[in-house]
Amino acid sequence: MKLVSSTPLLNEAREEGYGIVAFNIHTLEMLQAVVDAAEECRSPLILQSTVGTVKHLGADYIVSAAQSAAKNANIPIALHLDHCQDYDLIVKCMYAGYTSVMIDASMFPFEQNVEKTKKVVELAKILNVNVEAELGKVGGVEDDIVVSEEDALLADPKECEEFVEVTGVPTLAPAIGTAHGIYKGEPNIDFKRIDEISRRVKVPLVLHGGSGIPAEQVKHCISLGMAKVNVATELKNAFSQSLIQFFEENPTEFDPRKYMVPAKETVKKLAIEKIELAGSIGKAK
Ligand code: 13P
Repeated sequence: MKLVSSTPLLNEAREEGYGIVAFNIHTLEMLQAVVDAAEECRSPLILQSTVGTVKHLGADYIVSAAQSAAKNANIPIALHLDHCQDYDLIVKCMYAGYTSVMIDASMFPFEQNVEKTKKVVELAKILNVNVEAELGKVGGVEDDIVVSEEDALLADPKECEEFVEVTGVPTLAPAIGTAHGIYKGEPNIDFKRIDEISRRVKVPLVLHGGSGIPAEQVKHCISLGMAKVNVATELKNAFSQSLIQFFEENPTEFDPRKYMVPAKETVKKLAIEKIELAGSIGKAK
């Protein structure tokens, strides 16, 4: 199969009440591990990379690896660009082969966010690429984007409705109390707000800050219409922890093919748990 747009995958997920996990990947091995996990689960999959990872690996390399995965796999796979504020990079990634992009203009006033999102949606429609935009401000650290607790801002349900109407954006990430990174305590998720947004906005909603949210709360978010669940930090930490442990136990082993094996297994195991939690096992068409 070829890489597919995530729009129909997420529409179906929202209609049927399950979630599709979007895994942030940073290396070829992480990509392979989440693809293996999704294949084993017969689940649709969204691979996603941050702007930092695009700069680190190059959009073409990421696209080639994702295309190879899609060609060999028997499940639908989309490739998404996470939190991008740079229109030119979004265009570059779309032309390189990304099938979904996030224009993050959440730091601008509403009208400017609308304007910037509309511009991306126009081109994305022609190229059959999904678009995600953010309203409110998700707190925490994601690559170079740092939003302090004081600056984090929850999305306004009425604004969400107007935003989707005027921009035609096919997926929306409203800030509802989650944050990027690992939580100090429990996240303070505003379920009532998600419910109200969900009643006003019929496009699939996106749950950012998916690492470290208690399982029941993730399920509750999905039941309220959050169809895309982003997981970055937990996956990255598991991968790195596995490497640390390997080198503690094998300080003189220098062959990447040895230490990448347990790291891949660790990522795969965690990815299966997340897919199970999102309820997308067996949903691949
Ligand atoms: P976490 O790093 O908290 O998993 O958040 C991921 C995310 O929302 C990426 O946009």
